[in-house]
Amino acid sequence: MNDTRRAVLEALSDGPVSGPDLADGLDVSRAAVWKHIEALREAGFEIESGADGYELSEVTAYNGPAVEFGLEAPFSVEYHDSVGSTNDRARELAGEGATDEVVLADEQTGGRGRLEREWTAPPGGVWLSVVTRPDIAPAQAPLYTLAISVATARAAREAGVDARIKWPNDVVVPVGDDGDYRKLSGILTEMEGETDRVEWVIVGPGINANIDADTLPESATSIREEAGDVDRRRFVQRLLESFDDHRNDLEGVVPAWRELALTLGQRVRVDRPGGEIVGEAVDVTESGALVIETEDGRETVSAGDCEHL
Ligand code: BTN
Repeated sequence: MNDTRRAVLEALSDGPVSGPDLADGLDVSRAAVWKHIEALREAGFEIESGADGYELSEVTAYNGPAVEFGLEAPFSVEYHDSVGSTNDRARELAGEGATDEVVLADEQTGGRGRLEREWTAPPGGVWLSVVTRPDIAPAQAPLYTLAISVATARAAREAGVDARIKWPNDVVVPVGDDGDYRKLSGILTEMEGETDRVEWVIVGPGINANIDADTLPESATSIREEAGDVDRRRFVQRLLESFDDHRNDLEGVVPAWRELALTLGQRVRVDRPGGEIVGEAVDVTESGALVIETEDGRETVSAGDCEHL
């Protein structure tokens, strides 16, 4: 959204303001004010016009300008009604030098999961990817994944869902007290860099938001199923704001993750490149690796597919 349009919106959200006052205040013509108001209405901003002037009454849209408006984090948002994969589009943007850019879509036709799996992403979900260029060592990049999983779980909890985290970064909803769960969200993290320097990190969370659970695999659930439909604009804003807070305080990420973890205390099987490992998950390290108490002692696993037994 350009600066003048943003200024028009801000003025309208503070109460009724007349066209001439807006034009004077922003130093633009009345015709320009009218054009901005029409464009904002088309973008889903409900603007009433009365005797006292124009006033913003509601934001019903789910698109780039709507998510950017009122967002207290420094991201710009590129929205698509439909896109192949938000991570693929984010990779293109990263290649062009973008940073702090979010790709957001209502639907993905080629959504990608971890380990080359497909990810079903029908309309109504929250599918997004964030391009960042952090000044961190590659070994710290997993903290970005943990940060976005904490942010996702927190946003889901604010929407009324009992969201927890399964190591490393699935956001799940517990079923009973035995460590069983249904998956609400998965995260695909991709990065590029050299041994001592990260060039970019893309974190891509996919959240089953306003989706009928019976269209999802039995092991999955949705916000609609757990708590009713969520305002996706507010949800994305909360998620991005929380992610921004955590990336600026990387030391606080693991403690925040621990508070939401469903995996700690569970008997787990982790399928990792060096083979399978079974035991009780007892902790996570400062870099987010899982510490497992096995029959032969403690082992630390930094990546793999984790299953609660
Ligand atoms: C997983 O659990 O395997 C990770 C799933 C990640 C899906 C999200 S949806 C938004 C972003 N774009 C993609 O193509 N994938 C991620």
